[in-house]
Amino acid sequence: MPRLIAPDVSYHSSWLEGSAEFDGAHRDGAGAEDWPLEELVDDHSFRRFVDSLVNDARPESPRKPGYVPCTYLWIMDGDTFLGSLAIRHELNDFLLNEGGHIGYSVRPSARRRGHAAAALASALPIALELGISRILLTCDEDNAGSRATIEKNSGVYEDSRNGKRRYWIEPA
Ligand SMILES: CC(C)(COP(=O)(O)OP(=O)(O)OC[C@H]1O[C@@H](n2cnc3c(N)ncnc32)[C@H](O)[C@@H]1OP(=O)(O)O)[C@@H](O)C(=O)NCCC(=O)NCCS
Repeated sequence: MPRLIAPDVSYHSSWLEGSAEFDGAHRDGAGAEDWPLEELVDDHSFRRFVDSLVNDARPESPRKPGYVPCTYLWIMDGDTFLGSLAIRHELNDFLLNEGGHIGYSVRPSARRRGHAAAALASALPIALELGISRILLTCDEDNAGSRATIEKNSGVYEDSRNGKRRYWIEPA
């Protein structure tokens, strides 16, 4: 059973291995867009990256325009990094229409084993604790894996906007 943990430098090598598997593809929920993988091989850079992920949950932390406070979590099986999940604390226009509250990705070698569905289920109470009582999830129209992940977690389809299917989840 995978667990969600706060980003932690102890898992540097497994994080690097898992992230390399994406072969440059976007890693939803990883918060790594501005951190080239080659740079994160370095211990010091990785520590700065992990600190920035953890600090992003604080409203007062500096962030790029258009970005909102976000809790980053790693999906782990023991000491093995399986993927990433991000909970955005509030919705701006872009997130309301396309991005949603939660983004996630699972490393290619660990897919189709229920990890995304389990990770999303574990993230719902955390979102609730953050004060998000109605959680918006979105996926591309043609992303069958993400769509099934959301629907397994009782996502209620509202509509599609700009090629994104939009679902709401209200955790009990
Ligand atoms: C989408 C993604 C997170 C799914 O991760 P995963 O761990 O393989 O998903 P799970 O194993 O939990 O599967 C959940 C459901 O999706 C289905 N599913 C997963 N991948 C699928 C695929 N490629 N095609 C069809 N169905 C798929 C599973 O069968 C399962 O449904 P079921 O229990 O009814 O069979 C993963 O493919 C990924 O990281 N993709 C790239 C990033 C991405 O698209 N993130 C989502 C952005 S909205």
